[in-house]
Amino acid sequence: MIEGIDGLEGVVAAETVLSEVDGAAGRLVIRGRSLDQLSGHTSFEAATHLLFDGFFDGLPADLTQPLADARSEVFSEVRALDAELVARTPMEAMRALTARLADGDDLATALRLVAAPAVFTAAVTRAQAGHAPLAPDTALGHAADILRMTRGTAPTAAEVALLDAYLVTVCDHGLNASTFAARVVASTRAGLTSAVLAGISALKGPLHGGAPGPVIDMLDAIGSPDNARAWIEAELDCGERLMGFGHRVYRVRDPRADALKRAIKAMADGSNALPGRLAFAEAVEQAALQILKERKPNRSLQTNVEFYTALLLEALAFPPPAFTCVFAIGRVSGWIAHAREQVAGGRLIRPQSRYVGPTPLAA
Ligand code: COA
Repeated sequence: MIEGIDGLEGVVAAETVLSEVDGAAGRLVIRGRSLDQLSGHTSFEAATHLLFDGFFDGLPADLTQPLADARSEVFSEVRALDAELVARTPMEAMRALTARLADGDDLATALRLVAAPAVFTAAVTRAQAGHAPLAPDTALGHAADILRMTRGTAPTAAEVALLDAYLVTVCDHGLNASTFAARVVASTRAGLTSAVLAGISALKGPLHGGAPGPVIDMLDAIGSPDNARAWIEAELDCGERLMGFGHRVYRVRDPRADALKRAIKAMADGSNALPGRLAFAEAVEQAALQILKERKPNRSLQTNVEFYTALLLEALAFPPPAFTCVFAIGRVSGWIAHAREQVAGGRLIRPQSRYVGPTPLAA
């Protein structure tokens, strides 16, 4: 569907076997599996395999080792991470390093592109904290290696499970803005790297993947549950939007918010600080939902995926400026599968604009 452009609501811009977002029921299906069947039960490598199945010749049954090898391969590009790039935002630096990869349409290119946001995000995060980037460990799974490369220490099994749950939860989501951007570029036959770069660029914006960092800013600014209503009211009075709430398609609660909340709760059981932070976030969420209901009684504004993404990535000690990069680490598999599907479908995406400007004066 192309929505938000008057007159284009309801236009189907792509047919896909990859995922279905049911905005009325609050349901996400990825290749015939419900989100709840996948999130918390499947590794990111297995979810990527599910998305890639049928779109690449010679797809191995288990992508764990090929993806680890691809991480190792793309790490050589980290040599281009100079002081100028380190001074940029993590998304800009990660995108610049990803742009160094050659375009192509084969499985090897696809795996390098799945590896790239993970390896480059870790390298940029470490460099921005004043540490040397760490090379991938090809004996580890993707989620475990991302945490090790980012933080420099071995993660616990619970942390690996939490990151895997996150990456699987966000790996695909219908024709969202970044996936549409990736499909448009793929439809020109520009190649997978170009399509992924389009996806990264669209994801970067605060209305799409850029929301979770500001969610932490909001929680920090509110500080205590007693302050939630006053802070939120003041923010809305200034015409600001609350990050982590509202969605173009979901008219009920975003199912990914609950999947992530469950995953965080599972880890909170073994943690000291997390239960308090989670309880505070829940109090802020309830206040926000109540106020949004009072202010927009005719619009169902509910919690979206980004609210609990923020808590989850904070619990894994990712710095907030890098949160959107971690979203890209998961979503890249969806972009690639959609790009391949678009090419297989064979048509250039070329919608029409409606001219509303002045007409030329008669000569
Ligand atoms: N906070 C406050 N008001 C919001 C809001 C939010 N998060 N989301 C929507 N609204 C308001 C809009 O301002 C609009 O008000 P108006 O009619 O008085 O102008 C009304 O609700 C309807 O907006 P809607 O048509 O649902 O928004 P949209 O489809 O254009 O935008 C989002 C969808 C996601 C861009 C929007 O909800 C938003 O900006 N959310 C915050 C950013 C975010 O969390 N992004 C991650 C998405 S997964």
